[in-house]
Amino acid sequence: MTVHWLGYTDNIGSVTTIHAAVSRTGNSVQWLTDMTNLRKAAADAESAVIFLKSGIGYDVYDLCRDLSFTFPQVVVILLIPAEELNYKKAMHAGAVDAVGLPGAETEIVQAARDAEQSLRAKMARLTGESSREQKADGRVLTVYGTKGGVGKTTLAVNLAVALSKSGLRVAVLDLDLQFGDVAIFFDVQPKRTIYEWVKEGQDQSAGEIDRYMIHHSSGVEILPAPLRPEFAEVIGGEHVGLVIGQLKRAYDYVIVDTPPSLVEASLVALENSQDILMVTAMDLPTLKNSKLGIETLESLGMKDRMKVVLNRDTKVEGIHLDMVENIIGMPIFARIPSEGKVVVSSVNRGVPFVLSNPREAVTRSIFSIASKLQSDLRRIPNVPKQIPQHSLRKPLFRSIFKR
Ligand SMILES: Nc1ncnc2c1ncn2[C@@H]1O[C@H](COP(=O)(O)OP(=O)(O)O)[C@@H](O)[C@H]1O
Ligand SMILES: [Mg+2]
Repeated sequence: MTVHWLGYTDNIGSVTTIHAAVSRTGNSVQWLTDMTNLRKAAADAESAVIFLKSGIGYDVYDLCRDLSFTFPQVVVILLIPAEELNYKKAMHAGAVDAVGLPGAETEIVQAARDAEQSLRAKMARLTGESSREQKADGRVLTVYGTKGGVGKTTLAVNLAVALSKSGLRVAVLDLDLQFGDVAIFFDVQPKRTIYEWVKEGQDQSAGEIDRYMIHHSSGVEILPAPLRPEFAEVIGGEHVGLVIGQLKRAYDYVIVDTPPSLVEASLVALENSQDILMVTAMDLPTLKNSKLGIETLESLGMKDRMKVVLNRDTKVEGIHLDMVENIIGMPIFARIPSEGKVVVSSVNRGVPFVLSNPREAVTRSIFSIASKLQSDLRRIPNVPKQIPQHSLRKPLFRSIFKR
């Protein structure tokens, strides 16, 4: 596949540093100042990364939207003065990245590399789409944690976007049925949720689930939690099993977000998962709860599919990493740094930080989890692991379900 590097600006003199930065990646951008020529170059390219610089007399977001929807084989990087850059608008316009000018050289180089990777993934997806019918079931990953506020939803949402950037079809299922906030993290307003899917008969024929999914501009699709906490009552474990079954037939990855308590819905999700990410943090109450959570899942025969993610990783007086591993009795699979400013403002704006802050350490940690999971995937075949049925019938565990 040949990748063309195109650029559009109303002032060639203003893009020399960008041109120089991109050439460090071994690519040369062909800059155009005429829209007709740009469109022609985009149409002729087998695939292309297009830099669009804002300028006078045109709306760069509109232009981005137009190009990215007209030409499926291109990705667009926006170049906009930092003080004017609106990431949310950029994302809704379909941009793969946006750089605030004057950007540092490393930032432009990174944006160019990321964009090329996204483009290759997109092209692979486009060419693979026709053979989708024969695809195997997708993988199910449940984000679990025994405490509220530990970062489960943050991880579920951002990991979903990171996986979708690598060309996978990703769904997020919000099983925090009473107080789920996945829709808020994505700033989408659900009309239908898992509750409607259950109420409207949840016909199990293939494709039915499509009508209930909310599409996010990142490519991730969401099945939100019910709009009211009391609606959660009608959703039983059997519904959760059915909905996961439908989702994994339609998506490459199903990411399940869960509440802090081990309710039946979560247990069904855990049973159906190939991967369980147990989110923990560096404080003793959380570590103690995580240890109990791990022991519970161990007694249910699920320990081998569990991976521990240490969130808000920061230097804490009196607690070290090896102490954490000793307390919980498992190795740490991945660490996510504590970056309050980035993470909290991303939630408040409703833009996952892997989109709004592509180069922060916290974003890199999420991409690293995504790639570790995928490299595991290449080693482990996608066979659902059987749990000994007797373990699920233990009265002790049935009695802790709250429904
Ligand atoms: N790595 C992090 N650094 C800083 N703040 C974080 C981090 N992870 C999560 N948070 C913040 O913690 C709060 C709780 O996170 P959330 O994902 O909703 O937790 P949970 O789903 O486990 O209840 C949110 O305000 C979120 O922005
Ligand atoms: Mg949550």
